[in-house]
Amino acid sequence: MPAISNLFFRTAVVFLIVGIGMGLQMAISQNHNVIGAHAHVNLLGWVTSAIFGGYYALNPAKAEGRLALVHYGVYTAGVVIMSIGLYLLLQGNTAMEPVVAVSSLITLAGVLVFAWTVFMPATATIVRTAKMA
Ligand code: HEM
Repeated sequence: MPAISNLFFRTAVVFLIVGIGMGLQMAISQNHNVIGAHAHVNLLGWVTSAIFGGYYALNPAKAEGRLALVHYGVYTAGVVIMSIGLYLLLQGNTAMEPVVAVSSLITLAGVLVFAWTVFMPATATIVRTAKMA
């Protein structure tokens, strides 16, 4: 398995543990106020990161080069900051609103890097990232 896939899967499983933790916290306390954070940690963090990892495992040529690392770094930073910000926002900390807004745009940027990777032929992706090096 390419290193980037391993990285995505390791990160995904950490998101799953955190997401399940939030789910259990809601279930036990019978207070579902952080439902939005729970859903996003699980779906953007666990499910989507695992799909990214699977994509690179199925397309090893796309896993080479710097672009895949840029994708991982931008996307993961966006989801981590957004998850923390959203969790605190839903707990009543309204100062987190701009943090959630900016981090959601960072997450989108990570997805756009992935979209570029998907639509570009593998060779073009490698050549482009090699030129950046
Ligand atoms: C042990 C694991 C989990 C527990 C204890 C748990 C618990 C919960 C609870 C208590 C709610 C609030 C329900 C409500 O207020 O209507 C919820 C909602 C939700 N959970 Fe989980 N959850 C778990 C795992 C997951 C996973 C793995 C995913 C996604 C991959 C997920 C996705 C969602 C979504 C999308 C919602 C919102 C549903 C809606 O708004 O109708 N959950 N969960």
